[in-house]
Amino acid sequence: KSLREYNTFAVPAVAHRFIEINRKEDLPALFSAKDLLKLPLLVLGGGSNLLFTGDYQGTVLKMNIQGVSAEQKQELVFVEAGAGVPWNSLVIYCVDRGYAGIENLSLIPGSAGAAPIQNIGAYGVELKDVFDSLEAFDTQTGEFRRFNREECEFAYRESVFKTKYRGRFIVTSIRLKLSTVFHPNISYGAIETELQKRDIREPSLKDISQVVADIRVAKLPDPQTIGNAGSFFKNPIINSDEFERLRKKFPDVVNFSMSEGRVKVAAGWLIEQCGWKGKKVGHTGTWKNQALVLVNHGSASGKEIYDFSEQIIGSVYDKFCVILEREVNII
Ligand code: EPU
Repeated sequence: KSLREYNTFAVPAVAHRFIEINRKEDLPALFSAKDLLKLPLLVLGGGSNLLFTGDYQGTVLKMNIQGVSAEQKQELVFVEAGAGVPWNSLVIYCVDRGYAGIENLSLIPGSAGAAPIQNIGAYGVELKDVFDSLEAFDTQTGEFRRFNREECEFAYRESVFKTKYRGRFIVTSIRLKLSTVFHPNISYGAIETELQKRDIREPSLKDISQVVADIRVAKLPDPQTIGNAGSFFKNPIINSDEFERLRKKFPDVVNFSMSEGRVKVAAGWLIEQCGWKGKKVGHTGTWKNQALVLVNHGSASGKEIYDFSEQIIGSVYDKFCVILEREVNII
């Protein structure tokens, strides 16, 4: 089965086996047939955070579980979504009904089930801020298990599903804790600037969602037209000593303070300073408006994009002594 239309980088790759999961009940049946477990397994959502560097010699499970429901308790709303629901459809569902909390996460590609794996975040909000729990299938025991927020061990683009439980659980649904009382989160400078430009003083839930969507469209390439997987690298987090050394040499370094004296450095800035912004190398390159995003100019292979990312890591290290880590999963 060709995976080209199942990855937003739109690189060519073939899966040895490809199975669509439409109901959570499909999973126990599938896993009781033990031959499935003999091959490596890849759980696929929207395919918007991975890069195939070759064919996949295992089984791809495409998560299609649909369904969104909401349960209101006073001003709280618990919204449950199947793993296969596109994340942005869920955002629209909530914004339309006045359920506040994920409007800053408008237009993020990918599926609801993938959102907790890397604790998606943008414009001052992370999934963990509104997360209640999720249900997942345990491929080791064959049972379903619910994880609350603490059990997911969320951190910046991290969760327990990328660390100690990597490859073990398959998320079947997520539950968010939203509110019918709306407090706009405009902590991210770009949102405030955009609201001022539009002369909006008391933004509604819809205004915030619209502004975020417009900022994204202006800055990030649309995967429908140009293959990409959003930020290719994480913003590196360094300690205060490392940061002071860096700032001495590069006073303009774009950074955000974090807890315990740690500092998050803007990877897009580091990459741009190395001269990579908007550069085209073969069939790949970085996006003209956001150097942190690698793109497929049409016929790049996954290997070519991967090799290019190695070049970027090398030059950022040579110039700044900072190690960039990939945010995108390399398959
Ligand atoms: N910058 C540059 N040159 C660039 C890009 C950025 O100098 O080419 C500097 C600018 O000073 C800019 C700052 O870096 O103000 C931050 O850039 P931006 O606001 O675009 O955010 P980011 O840190 O590059 C992160 C997330 C994005 C998310 C935005 C907005 C990561 C890895 N990325 O990017 O998430 O949309 O913030 O909140 O944390 C994703 O994860 O795929 C993603 C797109």
